[in-house]
Amino acid sequence: MKILKDTTIAVCGLGYVGLPVALLFAQAGFKVFGVNRGKEKVAKINLGKNPIEGKEPGLKELIKTVHHQGNFEATTDPKIYHQADVIIVAVETPVEEETHEPAYVAMRSALKDIGQNLKKGTLVIVESTIAPGTMKKVVKPILEQESGLMVNKGFLLANCPERLMPGFLLENIQNYNRVLGGMNQKASEIAKKLYKYIIKSEIEETDCLTAEIVKSGENTYRDVQIAFANEMALLCEAMGANVWEVRRLINNCKKRGDTRVEALRQMHLPGAGVGGHCIPKDSWLLIYGAKDLIEPRLIPLSRHINDFMPRHTFHLLKDAFREIGKNLEGTKIAVLGYAYAGNSDDARNTPTEPLLKMINRTQAEVIVHDPFIQDYKKPLEEVLKGTQALILMTDHDQYKKIDLKKIKKLMRAKPIIIDGRNIFDKEKTRKLGFVYKGIGNI
Ligand SMILES: NC(=O)c1ccc[n+]([C@@H]2O[C@H](COP(=O)([O-])OP(=O)(O)OC[C@H]3O[C@@H](n4cnc5c(N)ncnc54)[C@H](O)[C@@H]3O)[C@@H](O)[C@H]2O)c1
Repeated sequence: MKILKDTTIAVCGLGYVGLPVALLFAQAGFKVFGVNRGKEKVAKINLGKNPIEGKEPGLKELIKTVHHQGNFEATTDPKIYHQADVIIVAVETPVEEETHEPAYVAMRSALKDIGQNLKKGTLVIVESTIAPGTMKKVVKPILEQESGLMVNKGFLLANCPERLMPGFLLENIQNYNRVLGGMNQKASEIAKKLYKYIIKSEIEETDCLTAEIVKSGENTYRDVQIAFANEMALLCEAMGANVWEVRRLINNCKKRGDTRVEALRQMHLPGAGVGGHCIPKDSWLLIYGAKDLIEPRLIPLSRHINDFMPRHTFHLLKDAFREIGKNLEGTKIAVLGYAYAGNSDDARNTPTEPLLKMINRTQAEVIVHDPFIQDYKKPLEEVLKGTQALILMTDHDQYKKIDLKKIKKLMRAKPIIIDGRNIFDKEKTRKLGFVYKGIGNI
């Protein structure tokens, strides 16, 4: 198969990953089908409307452009796979809540649909993040069994994990280097040629297993580093220091006359918890690859430290109430931010959820605000009126512009701020009469 503009591409899963990928290929001139479960989302996309609510530069415009071009169509019908020369899989890959093992329900059903409609010679590329070994142990056998074709002979297979982040979808897809692991050289070569149409950066070829480990490994590295930053925050609170000043000084470690920052010494951001579809589960995916072979310690411990942060945020709230001599029961508390990341509408695995569960057990009245999530889009003044405490969970731009003097008038006497993302100035809030407690800075 040669990659020509008349190559037809099907993208399975039109979420944060699949939708922008499909649109970029359509913009490049390919005929693209996007397959997704659920008629509502598909209908919206086919009307040229953006289903993502958060700030995503260029996405709304790109959907409109592609809609007018007429070479992109979303559908719920898996039979469309039979028309595709290339199929890209971008469905969700969560882990089981209790066991942390991969929960490949979406992946298995997508592969089954694809296998049953696979045309001979098609290249299937998995972009979803998967546990190391999944291409060989799950993807290949399902496709072979359902299609009756053999990999490398009847169809081609590659893994090209996606590296984007909500808020930067289009920018990241086009500008981040990519790792590409083909089941054979031909799969790698064709996939690379194809991605060159939308990726401006380097595409590095490797084997499937290495590509799988790189993707889950880079997110695990981040999770471990965040856990370190969170533990530093807890240490600084205990010792009466400000973790943000400590972090600034650590990160400013430079040689005289050298303007480069020392990348290896850059401390991550502590905070009220880690969320999103990826970071909380990719560590579990990585270690699942070596299940029963070794027992990793650092990675699960880091997960537990990060999962503890919403509980710690709740502890800070209780401390602040103790300080003002009040009980939480019967008071009103505002939680600002339900999405896990600033300016995003992505609320998967949000740390706000466990925090809300803890507050709800106290019989305090809790009211949530988020400018990007339909259920929580209310005027901020209305939310803060009559509250005793404000807990900042997400660094949306709107919250960075909060007028403290104004909100103090709306809140009860001895108002409390629990700052989960270091967006308020501790001294300033205290001067204005707030009781302030920030993660790593109390
Ligand atoms: N969101 C991110 O920032 C990000 C970044 C890099 C990698 N990833 C990885 O990419 C993958 C997808 O993530 P996402 O954030 O786009 O998920 P998502 O939940 O936003 O999108 C997945 C889409 O697939 C659809 N789907 C599920 N089963 C299907 C099926 N059988 N057929 C057709 N459609 C189906 C869902 O309805 C959904 O719209 C995951 O493995 C994730 O770990 C995500």
